[in-house]
Amino acid sequence: MNEQGPPPEPQTPLVELRGVQLDFEHKPILHRLNLRVERKQRMVVMGQSGAGKSTLLRLILGVLRPTEGTVFFEGRDLSRASRPQINAVRRKIGMVYQSSALISSLSVRDNLALPLEELTRKRRAEINHIVEDKLAMVGMEETGALMPSELSGGMRKRVAIARALVMEPELLLFDEPTTGLDPVLAAVIDELIVNLTEKAHATSIIVTHELSSAFRTATRIAMLYKGRIIEEDRPERFRSSHNPVVEQFIEGRTKGPIQ
Ligand SMILES: Nc1ncnc2c1ncn2[C@@H]1O[C@H](COP(=O)(O)OP(=O)(O)O)[C@@H](O)[C@H]1O
Ligand SMILES: [Mg+2]
Repeated sequence: MNEQGPPPEPQTPLVELRGVQLDFEHKPILHRLNLRVERKQRMVVMGQSGAGKSTLLRLILGVLRPTEGTVFFEGRDLSRASRPQINAVRRKIGMVYQSSALISSLSVRDNLALPLEELTRKRRAEINHIVEDKLAMVGMEETGALMPSELSGGMRKRVAIARALVMEPELLLFDEPTTGLDPVLAAVIDELIVNLTEKAHATSIIVTHELSSAFRTATRIAMLYKGRIIEEDRPERFRSSHNPVVEQFIEGRTKGPIQ
């Protein structure tokens, strides 16, 4: 009698890559890659050096466009978006670069204030308040006056994370956040990534080749191999995967499909 309503809309993922092909000078780097990242996830993308992890992040950030296929952010096709629309999306994304990428001529405080000064009309006092708040979130309060050259690698990483947070992003991108840090510092940074993502009700995509970091931070793990995501699952299931590439990567074996 009563007509059934339309089926419920499947929830739009925060980020989706569909059939993404990326070539550099006719050399395929990503090949028909598919990946969905739901809100509140911490998606770890694992892969060898040169697999295309940083490239993947640059596609999501909208600084690279795929040769073919589509990158969606909140259901919006970034390759068809206008420049202002892409800029609006970018403001919702906080990026933590592998090198930290702090501006060496600016103090810690000014590094954090810069996006707020350039992209918002907030007043000085409010900017100062946000900067102090974000520094405190990463345990770097009272370092605002220091210059990047005065910081250790781990401190620089914390400041880079604080800077990624100042615009209250919905999505945080981490490019090898623990590479080059000692194991204890790496664990501290991993814990920060988990806690800050949860506290901010944000979503994170973390690319790494460090297994221990992946299992400490992920709610989902994806394996990037030969240009595609060949496995994507919850960490405990990923760990017991029978995919020979995943097995070889997890066990660090020299023999197997990975040459
Ligand atoms: N701008 C570029 N021009 C040409 N080739 C590039 C460029 N950026 C990256 N590549 C190549 O793409 C591949 C993937 O690079 P990248 O995404 O940096 O890998 P990963 O971050 O996994 O180590 C590498 O072979 C690299 O040499
Ligand atoms: Mg990289």
